[in-house]
Amino acid sequence: AEAEKIIIQLDKTLPPAECLKIHKLPNCIGQRVKVFGWAHHVRRQSKTLLFIVLRDGSGYLQCILAEDLARTKDAILLTTESSVCVYGKVQQVPAGKSAPGGIELVCDYWEVIGFAPAGGVESVLTAESEVDLQLDNRHLVIRGQNTSNVLRIVSIISDAFRSHYKDRAYTEIFPPTLVQTQVEGGGDLFSFAYYQETAYLSQSSQLYLETCIPALGDCYCITRSYRAEKSRTRRHLSEYNHVEAECPFIDFDGLLDRIEDLVVDVTERIYENAKELLKEINPDFKPIKRPFKRIKYEDAIKLVNELGLRKAKDGKPFEFGDDIPEAPERRMIEHIGEPTFLTHFPKELKAFYMYPTPQDPRVTDSVDLLIPGVGEIVGGSMRMTDIKPLLDGYKREEIDSKPYYWYTQQREYGTCPHGGYGLGFERFCTWILGKDHIRDVCLYPRFYGRCRP
Ligand code: 4AD
Repeated sequence: AEAEKIIIQLDKTLPPAECLKIHKLPNCIGQRVKVFGWAHHVRRQSKTLLFIVLRDGSGYLQCILAEDLARTKDAILLTTESSVCVYGKVQQVPAGKSAPGGIELVCDYWEVIGFAPAGGVESVLTAESEVDLQLDNRHLVIRGQNTSNVLRIVSIISDAFRSHYKDRAYTEIFPPTLVQTQVEGGGDLFSFAYYQETAYLSQSSQLYLETCIPALGDCYCITRSYRAEKSRTRRHLSEYNHVEAECPFIDFDGLLDRIEDLVVDVTERIYENAKELLKEINPDFKPIKRPFKRIKYEDAIKLVNELGLRKAKDGKPFEFGDDIPEAPERRMIEHIGEPTFLTHFPKELKAFYMYPTPQDPRVTDSVDLLIPGVGEIVGGSMRMTDIKPLLDGYKREEIDSKPYYWYTQQREYGTCPHGGYGLGFERFCTWILGKDHIRDVCLYPRFYGRCRP
């Protein structure tokens, strides 16, 4: 009741307050400013002294509300995550005290814009809450400092990819994701009713990229890909960002060089542009060195056997032609201990479009890049140049070639040796940020059993 009687008013005789974002304020010592944001922390020191740490997405600001400003009804009821507007003078924090950016705002007026429920986000969940509850409340979790830092650095990582491609003179394209063709096999395609026809969600933009090289030369895209993955693992999503590029007139070694250049250059750019954030999120991260180790699939089979790994289905050693599943692949890359190109997979294990290796037609000019801790982050290959083996590829994979007429025609209209790759953006981020699970780097992850919020 006492608080209801306390009315505070904006003092019009004070110097005008410029409306600024928090990150600008360290350069505004002594200036009167107005700042909008959310109450990240609220701490009541005494009846007449209230501290709010304000968050506006650009930074955090300690605000001091004294005397009547701390005694109003709003001040008494203020909860974390309420949105507020504060007016006051920016000053350096007194010697011996600390606050974000080394500054604080001595308020002369403030207003609540929208209250949050009592107890704030902590009443819904804490860091210890079980994973599904955390994911159901991801819209609140992202307001936390750690998670918002992850989202911020993920944005810097995507900038790093785009600047790499810009610097190397690639053109970005924007392919459709509602498609009628598969790229990586029918097993994990999502299908849906597209008006009167059946269509799929794209697994990869590779085929479209291939049509763009005669128009644009080296090109790339960062587009969503979809995989109906039936198992929940630490590195599989149903929807992910796919960084893909396609390059005309290169050979297989040239392709490996390009992938190596991408991964090394992008990690260096991130290291340069996000030093502070990276230090907070993954202090152990160091840019990597070239050249990457290169191992042929055939030798990898020998290596997994030497490591004592056996096939899950019959306990027998791996043989040429066997797929190396995720678990033994991870064990192998942990053993190798550095980024490694695995090359020359048998054609039966790979997609219809892959170019057979001239010196060994059992295998293809194909590559996976494996990284300790995450496993495969890139898959790429040289593509079929001539029409006949491409048609044979459709047949081998039992694919109806009709909907692929536009892809097949590339071989009739001035074919060329070419290759490209796809990099799983979230797997890459998981690695850079040293996260255990791929869902930790997604805004709203999609995987088997989860399609919300
Ligand atoms: O090896 P993949 O299937 O290759 C392709 O799609 C090629 N058409 C790409 C190309 O040459 N343009 O997928 C490429 C990468 C994988 O190495 C992995 O990093 C990522 O995409 N990826 C996934 N990431 C998260 N969740 C999934 N379910 C993924 N499936 C593939």
